[in-house]
Amino acid sequence: MDPVSSLLTGIHSQELGISPRQGPAELAVVIPTLNERENVALLVERLNAALEGLLWEAVFVDDDSADGTAELVREIACRQGNIRCLQRLGRRGLSSACIEGILASAAPFIAVMDGDLQHDETRLPEMLRLAKEKGLDVVVASRHAEGGSLGDWQKGRARISDLATRLGRLVVKASLSDPMSGFFLVRRQAFEKAMHRLSGQGFKILLDLFASSPQPLSFGEVPYRFGRRLYGESKLDTLAVWEYLMLLLDKLTRGLVPVRFLLFGIIGGLGVLTNLATLALALKGAGIAFPAAQALATLVAMTGNFLLNNLFTYRDRRLTGRRLLSGLLSFYAICGLGAVANVGVASLLYGKDHSWWLAGLAGAAVGVVWNYAITSVFTWRSPAPSAARKEGARQGDAAEAQRRVIDAEEA
Ligand code: GDD
Ligand code: MN
Repeated sequence: MDPVSSLLTGIHSQELGISPRQGPAELAVVIPTLNERENVALLVERLNAALEGLLWEAVFVDDDSADGTAELVREIACRQGNIRCLQRLGRRGLSSACIEGILASAAPFIAVMDGDLQHDETRLPEMLRLAKEKGLDVVVASRHAEGGSLGDWQKGRARISDLATRLGRLVVKASLSDPMSGFFLVRRQAFEKAMHRLSGQGFKILLDLFASSPQPLSFGEVPYRFGRRLYGESKLDTLAVWEYLMLLLDKLTRGLVPVRFLLFGIIGGLGVLTNLATLALALKGAGIAFPAAQALATLVAMTGNFLLNNLFTYRDRRLTGRRLLSGLLSFYAICGLGAVANVGVASLLYGKDHSWWLAGLAGAAVGVVWNYAITSVFTWRSPAPSAARKEGARQGDAAEAQRRVIDAEEA
């Protein structure tokens, strides 16, 4: 019998050095990681203890951490067959990491949990039992269910989390006590029904799942206490807050209009106002001649738009340093061409006897679409894998610095 069929039938599994426990997993634990080297070995140890007697596997999804998390996971995987590492190059994002980890496994039940020991792995068997016994689509480990807690969270963060939870209710009708939880279990069938509609943006995979499912998901909750982070640092920053708002907007508009385009358009509208205000100032205030005043106003508006788009629309690909300058120049050039297209289309329609406002509107629309499409490719293109890794290294440095502080405090 060839090795594949013997694996499938399990007959020669002992000869192949696979213990019977490592048959097809019933439960996959998907663990997104970014610079969690110090946590993963301990986490595997704890999972081994918590899931004893179950058929399970763990998929670590690592975004090319600079601290060597993926290498360590592979080292562990060489010793323990149910541990795997999915290393992504040039990619970032907690939600998309979870989605790809889930897709890399065939287990009928999938748990998603953090790799930093803040999620209580001893709750997993109970979550699986509940899902199976009650036939539930999802079981959420909740910090707000009776018996759960935020642990020693500071008031400020608790308040922000509370506000985010309220906002989340706009897109999720289910009465989840903790829609922001990053610790939950989902039945594969339920995930597969929703997966093509997931936005995959940012941090909030559970919220995304509930908002994207074509049918209401049946769910249960188990309480847990959010643990303290002992090693490394949190990656939740202002970008996460912003990405969360983008996710909500995406779900509220039902994905009809890409959120980035919406933002780009709104900022474009602000640009028109800036243009007019600067023109008025230059003409009336400074007494500059019209052509020069309009040129100045256009430059000011374009620069403002570039900076705003860099800060908000493309926050995840924000340009800094020298790339900020080259980005600005490419933005000028592209928007300049956009203006030519705008005037061209508008004049053409106006010449064909359309009303002035229709011609103007059509010209502006062509300009905005052009500017959006081309700058998204040239000005804010996705970072190359090497650039992403450098960014990871910077986070690693910060983690290192924080560790030194903790060490010093504890010494
Ligand atoms: N692959 C990958 N890519 N993993 C990531 C990324 C990423 O871009 N960003 C963060 N992670 C990993 C971290 O390494 C960690 O294992 C887990 O995702 C959670 O990140 P933390 O930075 O520890 O998040 P947190 O503790 O501040 O936030 C937790 O609480 C939130 C509730 O307010 C998380 O559980 C969130 O999911 C949860 O919503
Ligand atoms: Mn954490």
